[in-house]
Order: sequence, then structure tokens, then C-alpha cells
Amino acid sequence: MSSLLEKIDHYRRLFADQVSRVKEARQVEELRQAFLGRKKGHLTLLFEEFKTLGPDEKKSAGRLLNELKTDIQNLLAELEQKLQSPARVKQLEDLTLPGRQLYWGSPHPITLFQREIERIFISMGFSVEEGPEIETDYYNFEALNFPPHHPARDSWDTLYINDKLLLRTHTSPVQIRVMEKKKPPIRIIIPGKVFRRETPDPTHLPMFYQVEGLVVDRGITFAHLKGTLEYFIKTLFGEKIKLRFRPSFFPFTEPSAEVDIECIVCGGQDAACRVCGGSGWKEILGAGMVDPQVFKNVNIDPEVYSGWAFGLGIDRTAMFAFQIPEIRHFYENDLRFLRQFNRR
Ligand code: DAH
Repeated sequence: MSSLLEKIDHYRRLFADQVSRVKEARQVEELRQAFLGRKKGHLTLLFEEFKTLGPDEKKSAGRLLNELKTDIQNLLAELEQKLQSPARVKQLEDLTLPGRQLYWGSPHPITLFQREIERIFISMGFSVEEGPEIETDYYNFEALNFPPHHPARDSWDTLYINDKLLLRTHTSPVQIRVMEKKKPPIRIIIPGKVFRRETPDPTHLPMFYQVEGLVVDRGITFAHLKGTLEYFIKTLFGEKIKLRFRPSFFPFTEPSAEVDIECIVCGGQDAACRVCGGSGWKEILGAGMVDPQVFKNVNIDPEVYSGWAFGLGIDRTAMFAFQIPEIRHFYENDLRFLRQFNRR
């Protein structure tokens, strides 16, 4: 049997010869197994043999054997890279592969719905106004004709910050702020957040959105209110939707009404309908003719001017339009929910 040194030399040549013939990545792995395989690899066997040598022989053979092992490992790694990268480049250049889907984000469904509402009113010559979310008692209640300690205040479940400041319970205070600054004619809508002391459940949250509307001019009548709201709702829900006006009460309008729209889920045909409770109608807004006292509070002469106003719940109307049974879905930031409204 030849000496270990000769064998090292032999396998160095053998490896050099075989490595020069390698054409694909699969062969690299075969070579690795043949030389470095755990049990029968050529070098593994040489290392076994090395253990049986005497100290003097070990000295020279050990260094050569280790060198050969490192050379083989390095060469195989290099070769592997070379053989793999052209395939990768080819893959990257393959323009027929489907692109990776990127999610770019999109406006929140409430924002989309609010914009739709704005678009309809803007097309009728309205402009869009805003007001503060932290309000004084005066704007949220008093100027809107709620006398101090009036029981009507209780139904608004107000979140107070201190004796004077509160989180607005509706968008109506912005009516006052605008009328203090602008003289009629006024044609505005006011979208925004409002706050009430509510325990969250499928149809209530302590924060939600409303849009207020206000028209003030000479000769404005209830017919204008009805005609405008009818046009608005039909543009939003389609020409065929039915609506009805029910008498109601708000301190800042006289007369007052609540407006219901026909249930688009059951059309009044399902006594157990989850959306309308079987009534066939869904209340979406309050409205009325601006109370003369409100005009007096902002120095507009009620003998000269008249006006109408409305306040609509954006979330609840959006729930109805998109048939969403849970208001909380809007605010949980679950992308599986939000992505359904991505219109890109
Ligand atoms: N602010 C009322 C609410 O939050 C809704 C409302 C009713 C607004 C009648 C109005 C109106 O402008 O005329 O319940």
C-alpha cells in the first residue's frame, strides 16, 4: 500500500481532474459526497488512516491533508456559486413570471364614504366646513337652544373635559360657528368626528362620524329640505330607494323630522332582518327648519331669513350601504377588512 503522502497527492489530482468536468450544480454535490462524505468520502478515509500514523509521519501528512480538505471545500463552494447564479439571473429576467403583489394602502372606508357624500353636495353648490372637536358648552348646547339643565342634554351622553369644555356630541355646533362669521346665503356641509359616552357594541362606539348640513337664505322652505335630501339619498343609494320623513324633536329645529330609508337588505320583507329589525326602514338622519331662536343667537334676522339643517351618521349609513353588521370593524385596523375597500 502506498504511503499516505502519495495518496494525498493522488486524490489532489483526481479531484482536479473531476472538478474540471463539472457542468451542473448537481455534480458539485456528488463530488462533495465522494471526497468529503461522512462515512466513505476519500478524505474522510484518509483522515482515518492519518490517526494510525506515528508522530513523525503525522507532522508532514497532517498539514498536507488539511490543505487538501480546505482547497476542496473552497473550490466546491466557488463552483456552486458559479453554477447557480446564471440560473438565478435567468429567473429574474423571466418577464413571464407573475409580479409580486404589493399593497399600496388606500383610504379608509369611512373616508371613502365621506368623500362620496361631499362630492354629491359639492355638485349641488355646497361647500365643506370644519370645526373643533373640543367644544364649549355654549356652542355644543346653549347656542343651539338647549337651555341649561334642559333634559334634552341628557340624551347626548356628553363626555366632559371640565366644567366649560367637552368633546362635541354632534357636528351641529359648527353651524353656529359658521353663522357667526358668514352672512347668508349659506350652503355648507360639515363632516367630522363626534363623541358620546357609549359602551362599545355592534352599533355603538364612543367616537363616530357625522355630517351636518345647513342652508340659510331668503325664502327657504321645508320643500327645499325635502327636495335636497331626496336628491342626495337617491344619488347615494340609487333612484329606486324609498325614504320617509317622520316628525321628531330637536331643540335647534322647528319643525323637526327624522329620515328613514328603505331597508336595502330585506326591503321590509323579512320580519327577522338583522339590519332593520323587520321594520323595513332604517333611520339615518335628523333634520328640520332652523329654529328662529338659533338665528337670533347668531344675529341673523329670522324675519328675513329662513333655513334648514340636517345631521347624518356617516358610520351607520356606511354600515347600511356596505352591509356591515359591526361598527367596530371600521376601527380595528384588520387589513383583511380594510383591503376589501381598496378600489385601485
Ligand atoms: N345633531 C343631531 C344629533 O346628533 C342631528 C341633527 C338633527 C342635526 C337635526 C341637525 C338637525 O342639523 O337639523 O342627533
